[in-house]
Amino acid sequence: MFNKVSTILAVSAVSTMLAFGSAIAAPITIKFSHVVAENTPKGQMCNKFKDLVAERLGGKVVVEVFPNSQLFGDNKVLEAMLLGDVQLAAPSLSKFGRYTKALQLFDLPFLFKDIEAVERFQKSKAGQELLLATEKKGLIGLGYLHNGLKQLSSSKPLRVPADAKGLKFRIQSSDVLAAQFKAIKATPLKKPFSEVFTLLQTKAIDGQENTWSNIYSKKFFEVQPYITETNHGLIDYLVVTSTEFWKGLPEDIRVEVKKALDEAIAFGNSVAAQKAKGDRQTIIDSKRSEILSLTKEERTLWVEAMKPVWEKFEKEIGKDMIDAAFAANQ
Ligand code: SIN
Repeated sequence: MFNKVSTILAVSAVSTMLAFGSAIAAPITIKFSHVVAENTPKGQMCNKFKDLVAERLGGKVVVEVFPNSQLFGDNKVLEAMLLGDVQLAAPSLSKFGRYTKALQLFDLPFLFKDIEAVERFQKSKAGQELLLATEKKGLIGLGYLHNGLKQLSSSKPLRVPADAKGLKFRIQSSDVLAAQFKAIKATPLKKPFSEVFTLLQTKAIDGQENTWSNIYSKKFFEVQPYITETNHGLIDYLVVTSTEFWKGLPEDIRVEVKKALDEAIAFGNSVAAQKAKGDRQTIIDSKRSEILSLTKEERTLWVEAMKPVWEKFEKEIGKDMIDAAFAANQ
């Protein structure tokens, strides 16, 4: 009798523990860190991802989004990811130089004529291969996200490359971008995104290059009287995670997380298309900054001055890759 009662008690204790245990099993936390404002393609993509995961994996996975360099800035986020302090980020493709030279491709000036060409290349076999360019360093690209083509903002009007001679421009941490500004005899300064507004406001630098949505959301247009519509380069993102974190996720969770991410990226891309037009117009309407359009002849001068940079990086990037990307313009 005693044995029977104690067995029943033990079994019910174990079931209570199991039930209790599963009820308090901690959800997987995905910290998503980024440097831009929430009203940008990347900010909107992250928030969409968070909502989709909450809807579909609530209780199992929690996404925490940290915008505006609140958690990590450009220079630290990938190191932090390898240490397990953050699980997702989407740095600009220009910020992977310490992990791979292959992604420098996307910084070559005047490589893509529009975002449709970028999209075609990224979807191609060569573009998909580049998602894995950082794998040996413990980071996997899960997808590309668009922001848009870059414009040049400055404290003085820039119509031809000679106008930029001797001026200081903030650039992202990319050797290609440094070479691009040296090619027009300007001085490039690698600085984190979080410092750009103050550098411009205090006139420590003369100009910078960025997309319409970044120029608008970070108020660069309020402290830069001129923006030349050059469309000379690209800011797109690699949505990235650590191999260790990604492979450590249970299979069913990984599949659902990837699905939510793909949908959020598609949403972010539609926001990018709207913002490239809408934020440009808002800046024009503000009258804080004059938008300079280039004539065909002026644009040719910028192309001729900057394009020799391609050859300098051909070995590191690979000529086949450059050719494949350029062919996407057709
Ligand atoms: C970003 O869009 O993530 C930042 C780009 C920059 O550093 O200029």
